[in-house]
Amino acid sequence: MDGPGERSTNLLGVRHIVLVLSGKGGVGKSTLSTELALALRHRGHRVGILDVDLCGPSIPRMLRVQDRAVHQCDSGWVPVFVGQDRAVALMSIGFLLERPDDAVVWRGPKKNALIKQFVTDVAWGDLDFLIVDTPPGTSDEHISTVEALRPYRLLGAILVTTPQECTNIFSKGGGEELAKHAGVPFLGCVPLDPQLSQSLEEGRDFIQEFPKSSAFPALAHIAQQILDTSQQSS
Ligand SMILES: Nc1ncnc2c1ncn2[C@@H]1O[C@H](COP(=O)(O)OP(=O)(O)O)[C@@H](O)[C@H]1O
Ligand SMILES: [Mg+2]
Repeated sequence: MDGPGERSTNLLGVRHIVLVLSGKGGVGKSTLSTELALALRHRGHRVGILDVDLCGPSIPRMLRVQDRAVHQCDSGWVPVFVGQDRAVALMSIGFLLERPDDAVVWRGPKKNALIKQFVTDVAWGDLDFLIVDTPPGTSDEHISTVEALRPYRLLGAILVTTPQECTNIFSKGGGEELAKHAGVPFLGCVPLDPQLSQSLEEGRDFIQEFPKSSAFPALAHIAQQILDTSQQSS
């Protein structure tokens, strides 16, 4: 473990870090993080997922590894390897919380120090992409996460929203209006797809198994835009 002020070497082998954010919970942030990681993996890239969502670290469940124990090596936490060829590296704050309610008892400053340490303390090795699933909203946890990641190669952030979440501000609702308003690229609209939620419940690889389902083209298109952006930035 690195002492305070020391720069961790764990993220130096990561070429592109992508944050996934949302205003509220339950809008599909962890779903997008998971499927984006799988889509990039199926395109031949080395991918990791860092699940910093203290409110609901759901990615281990979506990938059917919630019972895995994690351990430490000299350079930090060793990620769990998931997916059909065990090629996606995952570290979740959920692995470190003994009980699901543990996050609640962490106090602010202690929590922020833990998050900062957690973010830089995973032995990823070489990765092309690290997808970071953050808690909903903007909170101290985000500030800690972004501060900890700032010295490394942050490609950008994806904001996940639903039409309902926007109706207060935009009469039509929808992420496209929000993107236009903020002057940022609109990556796409993922339709509600029962095969997607079912495959997540069953811990299946949606990208591999359901290429004909309605959410697939949207997810593939988002992954392609991340790839295009990464090629422009490197
Ligand atoms: N496009 C979609 N189609 C169908 N179900 C979805 C879709 N996106 C998310 N879900 C389901 O909605 C629920 C919440 O999604 P989740 O990714 O956990 O949200 P968040 O991480 O934003 O809290 C999950 O049960 C998930 O399976
Ligand atoms: Mg989530």
